[in-house]
Amino acid sequence: MNKALRKAVIAGNWKMNKTPAEAKELIAAIAPLVKDAGCEVVACTPFVDLSAAQEAAQGTNIQIGAENCHWEVSGAYTGEVSAQMLTSMGVNIVIIGHSERRQYFGETDVTVQKRVRAALDAGMTVILCVGETLEQREQGITSELVAMQTKIALCGVSEEELKRVIIAYEPVWAIGTGKTAGPAEIKEAHELIRGDLRTMFASACTELPILYGGSVKPSNAHEILGLDNVDGVLVGGASLEAKSFLAIINS
Ligand code: PGA
Repeated sequence: MNKALRKAVIAGNWKMNKTPAEAKELIAAIAPLVKDAGCEVVACTPFVDLSAAQEAAQGTNIQIGAENCHWEVSGAYTGEVSAQMLTSMGVNIVIIGHSERRQYFGETDVTVQKRVRAALDAGMTVILCVGETLEQREQGITSELVAMQTKIALCGVSEEELKRVIIAYEPVWAIGTGKTAGPAEIKEAHELIRGDLRTMFASACTELPILYGGSVKPSNAHEILGLDNVDGVLVGGASLEAKSFLAIINS
């Protein structure tokens, strides 16, 4: 599979961290140092930080993304934010289906699919997260589970829309735990996902970037990014400090 065909993406997922002032500071610290980065640099921030982060990222090659969006354009959905609200402020990337949403906020494959649809309809690029829990891995159902998450989330997505999809394989047991999946596990899961895509789509799959996420840090980024079917990384904890995020980008 030709990795060179795909753009490399290093995306930060800030989760529920940073105030707007801190967001501005972090983006301002990273921006000048990534201006020649040979990859796409994305920072996905809490909703309240988007404006400040966008402002700080203006004129730089850092793209600001959100961490979720609702499937309706507007309405009585207290606490939710729509894809249109995001695009109206120039935010064109959104993470959907993160395992923390699935684990703690009742996100299901069906709601993930609805959110993916809404984001694509609004013209956004989606970073779709899939991945198994430790229990599921031990039960030997990783491939089925990841295939199911991928297929349901992307059901009804056209070849054209697929150009705005990035998949992040994030084994739940490796998120925020310090445990990283080994190279063999990562390669195998990425191959499986690419195979699932091939069963769903005729052509575009070769261009779709598949990222790895789960305890990516400066010390392991080089090895992970060197794997042939890893097109980038989605970074949580280590994206919260300029130094560690830059070290990963430079890997
Ligand atoms: P982590 O998070 O890098 O802190 O493990 C990754 C993620 O949840 O996207």
